[in-house]
Amino acid sequence: MKLIDYMQEKKAEIEVVLDQVLPKSGIRPSILHESMRYSTLGGGKRLRAILAMAACEAVGGDPKQAHGLAAALEMIHAYSLVHDDLPCMDDDDLRRGKPTNHKVYGESVAVLAGDGLLTEAFAELARMPEKFNVSHEITVRIISEVAFSSGSQGMVGGQVEDILSMGEGSNDADQLEFIHTHKTGALFRASLRCGAILGQASSNELNKITEYADSFGLAFQITDDILDETGEAASLGKAVGVDERLGKLTYPRIYGLEKSKEMASACVARCHQALRGFSDSAWPLREMAEFIIHRDH
Ligand code: IPE
Ligand code: IPE
Ligand code: MG
Ligand code: MG
Ligand code: MG
Repeated sequence: MKLIDYMQEKKAEIEVVLDQVLPKSGIRPSILHESMRYSTLGGGKRLRAILAMAACEAVGGDPKQAHGLAAALEMIHAYSLVHDDLPCMDDDDLRRGKPTNHKVYGESVAVLAGDGLLTEAFAELARMPEKFNVSHEITVRIISEVAFSSGSQGMVGGQVEDILSMGEGSNDADQLEFIHTHKTGALFRASLRCGAILGQASSNELNKITEYADSFGLAFQITDDILDETGEAASLGKAVGVDERLGKLTYPRIYGLEKSKEMASACVARCHQALRGFSDSAWPLREMAEFIIHRDH
């Protein structure tokens, strides 16, 4: 099987689950549920969902058992994008090739749709025992990991430092690393670790998956920064040049484009190294590490 077919298959699976999990737009308040569905369905690479399933598979688990986890991760990711695009944050008008949530529903509903998505995500995680036959022990462990990585010491903390770095002309490499490992890296780490935990990974396997995750997350965000400079809005589905306009602390700003590309490639090499002891069932993880730096969206 080719990676694009694998990713397409998993993406289709997760979209069915998301459609079922998200409250229908007929449910009151309709505008809220419509807005939550608008930003979660129809678009996105579904990387966090696919990685969770692939990590589960890599350690010998059944990726279908990770459907609830995968849906929850995509809901948290979608919430983070809705809030990231708000005028008080990155002030973006285009996301996944469509107008951003607040452009369609207004800022108040957009903020609340994000709140709703985040909360519903945890409700879905709590349903893992009944829906996907996940043990209570593993369920609690996953809820705890996802909460920590999304919260003030994870994604939210990274977003705060990203906003603080804006326009001040900071050249602090430490702060840059903090921003990337937190705003983006933390949720990738949780996706991969929780997928592996669901698949009953040994502690050695979990350590290796964590090493992979940290390098993958960094490669992903360095590439996101590069694409903001070199990509096309048409393929990215979002505006380019935003980081420059806002004076964001990015890899190209500190290291330049060429060095940033080298650093992303070095991360990919570390991804491969982390998976050395894994069988062929880790092939999607191996190939996704290459995909992540060669993508155009
Ligand atoms: C974009 O993430 C936001 C960042 C964390 C940089 P993705 O590139 O995974 O976005 P979608 O889900 O594919 O739209
Ligand atoms: C967003 O980072 C990270 C989160 C939403 C947590 P960016 O601001 O770089 O993402 P894009 O470039 O708008 O997709
Ligand atoms: Mg941002
Ligand atoms: Mg942004
Ligand atoms: Mg970006």
